[in-house]
Formats: sequence, structure tokens, C-alpha cells
Amino acid sequence: METRSRLAALSLLLSAVFSSCVLLINPKEIDPLLYEEQLLWVSGAQGEVSAFRIPLLSFTPNGSLLAFTEGRKSSSSDYGAKFIAMRRSTDKGSTWSPTTFIVDDGMTPDGLNLGSVVVDEEVGSVILVYSICFHLYHCHPASTMMVESRDDGLSWGPPRNLSVQLGVKNFAPGPGFGIQKHFQPAKGRLVVCGHGTLEGDGVFCILSDDHGKKWYNGAALKSIPYNQKKKAQDFNPDECQPVEMTDGSIVINVRNQNNYHCQCRLVVRSLDGGLSLPVEELYFDYTLVDPAVAAGALQKDGVLYFTNPANKQHRVNLTLRWSVTDGKTWDDKAVQIWAGPSGYSCITSLDSGSAEDRKFIYVIYEKGHKDYVETVSFAKIHLFGGQ
Ligand SMILES: *[C@@H]1O[C@H](CO)[C@@H](O)[C@H](O)[C@H]1NC(C)=O
Ligand SMILES: *[C@@H]1O[C@H](CO)[C@@H](O)[C@H](O)[C@H]1NC(C)=O
Ligand SMILES: *[C@@H]1O[C@H](CO)[C@@H](O)[C@H](O)[C@H]1NC(C)=O
Repeated sequence: METRSRLAALSLLLSAVFSSCVLLINPKEIDPLLYEEQLLWVSGAQGEVSAFRIPLLSFTPNGSLLAFTEGRKSSSSDYGAKFIAMRRSTDKGSTWSPTTFIVDDGMTPDGLNLGSVVVDEEVGSVILVYSICFHLYHCHPASTMMVESRDDGLSWGPPRNLSVQLGVKNFAPGPGFGIQKHFQPAKGRLVVCGHGTLEGDGVFCILSDDHGKKWYNGAALKSIPYNQKKKAQDFNPDECQPVEMTDGSIVINVRNQNNYHCQCRLVVRSLDGGLSLPVEELYFDYTLVDPAVAAGALQKDGVLYFTNPANKQHRVNLTLRWSVTDGKTWDDKAVQIWAGPSGYSCITSLDSGSAEDRKFIYVIYEKGHKDYVETVSFAKIHLFGGQ
């Protein structure tokens, strides 16, 4: 008994030491290097697409990468008819399939808007949640839609209308990725967060505990004054990116639309798997200056990564930051990915556990010379300076 419990204590201690070794990266080792970059989409009236905007990037259950973007048919405006364009890479971003259009909304005056991509690793599916008629421009109501792939992104099922379960509401998921909870509470849950619109803005999360069959409304962080016209500096949480931390909490990095309190990011944390976003868990991150834009965030091996155009006024200067203190502090050595016009971004990584996959993160972002809507670019980042 004595020996057995001592052995148990020893193995517990060893596994604690081992798992902290696996998670901990020596902060000094992180030295991000822009390793490879290629343009995945180029805007400009070609074919049936006028502009590509709102890029999303995801890993897949089989270790491929999927890139999505809106193919805006007649202009670069948020309104109008669109395709969802996709490219797939099975070699860690070196080569990409030709573009396929996985959803086409026809000729609608206020078509689809991306969106949030979420991978269910327990069943091996990739789910893409998007909205249609979000701006209520010559249409109503707005609907929350999803498509799903069960074969690693090769083929996609027909669109499903989630508003039937969620109720009718203006909800624009992401843009970015949703998460599947890896840790308690609510391990296995799918969490997709996004924002409302106009007067009814705020951050809202929708949740699924059965791999995307049934969805229900979770946390809400409402704008103030809610359901009323906003003024400059009002509290107006907007586009957002959730990430799960290693303690099981969900940290949501949010666009601070009306510059409440600062021209910087708003951060809010859910401690109950996306059911609530208490104001006690809200703060402003003054280091993350921001021109009010959709930004990228990722938690990998205990390090938090963040990308945005790091400038208070303009969408320029796409910058990668990292934090080994769960976002409390950021390393001084921020890395500039692109000095010029740059807009929305999204980060992902492959997490097979292989030494190779621990070295890279992947960023997709809007990039241009005169205007950030010119191209959608994919950047492969080596976290350890090419070593
Ligand atoms: C994904 O992996 C599974 C299991 O190894 C395999 O059966 C399947 O063919 C793979 N799918 C694709 C599209 O590569
Ligand atoms: C989606 O479902 C809602 C609620 O039933 C309905 O009001 C809306 O018209 C549907 N949207 C589409 C595109 O079918
Ligand atoms: C770009 O970002 C870096 C890091 O935040 C900052 O030091 C620099 O002033 C920024 N440059 C511009 C032009 O915004």
C-alpha cells in the first residue's frame, strides 16, 4: 500500500513534469521568421469575381490546410452576391488546389458573409458557419447558415439554415475560426462566436454539444446602448476570434468598433465553455493597438499568438505578436509581416505533435500595395527563426 501510493505519487509528479515540458516553450526560443509566402487570390474583375475578401484558414482532421474567402461578384462591397471560394493544401501550405466555389448565393442584393470555420476532431468534420442577408438590404430576415465536409474539405453538403434552431437574429460569425473545446469545462463542445449588427451589436456565441446537429445560443456581451444608434466611443464589441487556453477558459479577442476606452483590442473571457461572458472578465489590451478590424489569434503549445494591422488609424503594418503569459504581456519583439496595406487576418496551425508541426504557424491575410483588398496572402511562419 505504502509503496503503491508512493509510486502513484511519483508517477503523478513525473507526468506533471512531463506535460509541462511538452507545453512549455522557452520564450527566448521564439523568433518568428516569415518562411514562405504566396498569394492565394488576386482581386480585379476576372471571371465572375470582382474582389476576394474575408479570408479564413483552418487545419483539417487529416492535417491538411483549408483556405476560404468570399468571392464578391460585382464589387468589393460587403453587400451583394458572393461565392465562398476555397483552396486546399495537403503539403503544409507549399502547394494549393485550384479554387473551388463551395457555396453560391446567386444574384441576391445582400448575399452571404463569412464566417467561422470549426473542426470537430472527434467525428472528423469541418463545419463552415456563415450568414446571409446580414445587412437586411432589400431582403429579410438574416439567416445563420452552415455547410459541412466529412471528407477533409474535398466535398461539402448542402447549406443548412441554423436560424430554425437559433431563432431569427442578425449574427455574423467570426470572421475566423470557431473552436472545439479540448479541455473541461464542456470538453468536445463546438463554440462559434461572432457579432450582431447595427443597433443590436455585441459579441454572441452559438454552441453545439452534439457535433453540429443541434445549435443553441450561448454567451452574449451586448453593446451599450443596446438596440439604439451608436455614437463614437460607445461600447460596441464587434468581430471576434475565440481561442481556448490551456486552463479550459475561452479568451475572445474583439474588435472595439467605436474605440470605447482606447484604439485597441477588447478582450473578454468565458469560464463556463461559452455560456457567459462576465464583465468582470473583460479588459482592454493597450499593447494591441488596432484600427477597428478583424484580427487573428491562436493558442499553440501554451503560447498565444496575435495578428492585426498594428496601427491606430490605418489598416497597414500587419504584425505578429506573441505572449507566454496568456496575453497578460506581449514580447517586445513583434514581427512585421507586411508594412503596407493589410486588413483582416486569421491564424492556424497543425497539431499532430510532430517536431515539424510544432515549428510552424500559418497566417492568411488581406494584403495590398495601394489597398488591402487587392490580394489574399498565405504566410508560413517558422517560430524558431528557421532552426
Ligand atoms: C483521412 O484519414 C482517414 C483515416 O486515416 C482516411 O481513411 C481518409 O481517407 C483520409 N481522407 C482524406 C480525404 O485524405
Ligand atoms: C431560415 O429559417 C428562419 C427561421 O425559420 C426563416 O425565417 C428564414 O427565412 C430561413 N432562411 C432561409 C434562407 O431559408
Ligand atoms: C507597426 O507595428 C509596430 C509594432 O507594434 C510599431 O512599433 C510600429 O510603429 C508600427 N508602424 C506603423 C507604421 O504603424
